[in-house]
Amino acid sequence: MTPAFDVLRSAYAELTVTDLAASRAFYVDLLGLVVSHEDDEAIYLRGWEERLHHSIVLRQGPVAGVRRIGFRVRSEDDLAPLAARLEALGSTVSWVDGELRGMGRALRATDPFGFPLEFFYAIEQFPTQLQRFDIQRGAPIMRFDHFNFHSPQVETTFAFWQQLGFRCSEYISTDGENEQIAGAWLLRKPGVHDVALTLGTGPRLHHIGLYVAEPAGVLHACDQLAAAEHSYTIERGPGRHGVSNAFFVYLRDPDGHRVELYSCDYYTGDPDLKPLRWSVSDPRCRSFWGTRAPDSWYEESSLLLTADGSTVPTFAAGVDERQARTEVMA
Ligand SMILES: [Fe+2]
Repeated sequence: MTPAFDVLRSAYAELTVTDLAASRAFYVDLLGLVVSHEDDEAIYLRGWEERLHHSIVLRQGPVAGVRRIGFRVRSEDDLAPLAARLEALGSTVSWVDGELRGMGRALRATDPFGFPLEFFYAIEQFPTQLQRFDIQRGAPIMRFDHFNFHSPQVETTFAFWQQLGFRCSEYISTDGENEQIAGAWLLRKPGVHDVALTLGTGPRLHHIGLYVAEPAGVLHACDQLAAAEHSYTIERGPGRHGVSNAFFVYLRDPDGHRVELYSCDYYTGDPDLKPLRWSVSDPRCRSFWGTRAPDSWYEESSLLLTADGSTVPTFAAGVDERQARTEVMA
């Protein structure tokens, strides 16, 4: 059934950071994101091709956490029916207008699992900097691509997002009877995903994915980080994912927020494409070359924040996918 609303895509994250200057050095000076606005409290960033006011907001706070997980809808008229659906699915909803710089009216929702969601249409636009080759530097980060959530209950979270019109492109599941989903990739835009669900302690935000123009850009970013004596920020990769086929590297910002530089996934716009399944025992699902992700990648994630700034309680998952396969260390 086609929903009475149209979520276009994942659009922005608002993260709290404990040292705004240190975060600026990472995201702006090293990674090369474009500053849309900055003051003593927050920095608003966007990728080279992005015209909307921001795709990352870094806000000074007492603890590192996730304030907002933002999605754009096709029009203002999509927000009211979406609010009704979110409430029917057990979310609490509220409305804001102009709370974040450059933004108008927006629908806020805390979903049944504790994720602080926002859906919006109205936002200021800037000229693209795609062809400002004269001022580009850092990694060629073009745009925001996706969120990856850590959840102890992937299957119920999966059902929730399907009720919002998200379609599955790929998933990882256990073999044999009582198949259990260990990971699911869900899309609205015609790429592999806007939201990925990973089984693990949660609810938490595992990472944000930023689209890099080409695999060489991922390698270039690693070279630049190492040359600037920041190789410790490189947590996993570079490598090729099995799921999504993307060429990737995972970085950790100064507060431990995880950022994936993500390149060259594939087109998924035809609505009758069947989801691709990976066995959880296939060593190629996470890294196509069969290399093992570090334990930190499975265990650490960003805590979510409530409206009053406290952290959302987390719960452990019953299954650890690392026990299902044998891989080699990179
Ligand atoms: Fe990702």
